[in-house]
Amino acid sequence: MSVAATRHVRPAQPTDVPRLQELGVLGWETTYGEIVAAHNCQLYLSGSFWSLDTLDRVVRDLHSLTLVSEEPDKTVSGFLTVEPIAEDRVELTRFYVDPNVRRGGIGSALFSSALDWSRVSGAHAMLANVFADNAIGRAFYERVGFRLTSLDPNYIIGDQTVGDAWYELTL
Ligand SMILES: CC(C)(COP(=O)(O)OP(=O)(O)OC[C@H]1O[C@@H](n2cnc3c(N)ncnc32)[C@H](O)[C@@H]1OP(=O)(O)O)[C@@H](O)C(=O)NCCC(=O)NCCS
Repeated sequence: MSVAATRHVRPAQPTDVPRLQELGVLGWETTYGEIVAAHNCQLYLSGSFWSLDTLDRVVRDLHSLTLVSEEPDKTVSGFLTVEPIAEDRVELTRFYVDPNVRRGGIGSALFSSALDWSRVSGAHAMLANVFADNAIGRAFYERVGFRLTSLDPNYIIGDQTVGDAWYELTL
């Protein structure tokens, strides 16, 4: 008897890396298009944080977590990365869901698994950073219990300045 495939969360593989980069670019285009000028988006996306090499290193890092949401047809519809920043603190460093399937619980499913992993890893706090004008990202973080810890109006990206919000969640 065959078992029907369902959407599920799984650890990322190195072969997922190009799709992770694609989701990051899509995420920036759909989220920051009106906040960050196109040439500054381009500058940031072509930097090391979104390079295939960096994503590959994070996916392979045994001390970090990269989770993907996989659709029944094997398409990766979302992902997140969690990286250690101190002995008992981790940071949610990337968190992107395909714009075509947002608001369908994929982000919540990814985040719930990331919380489990972070607690088991011994972390006592998770940090998250988001541009202050990213209302949807902030709504997500506040919905799952993150506390706003700082609001910096002077984050420089390329030749412009944007607001930057830091959040923290006690695990
Ligand atoms: C943030 C993001 C990852 C959430 O993923 P998602 O799969 O759409 O999230 P979910 O469907 O699990 O939503 C969970 C909760 O988040 C909040 N939320 C999500 N989308 C929202 C929206 N468009 N407007 C208001 N609140 C929203 C709601 O509280 C929602 O719960 P509800 O649907 O029961 O009201 C997704 O919107 C995304 O990829 N955004 C672009 C990238 C980004 O901003 N990343 C985070 C900062 S780096």
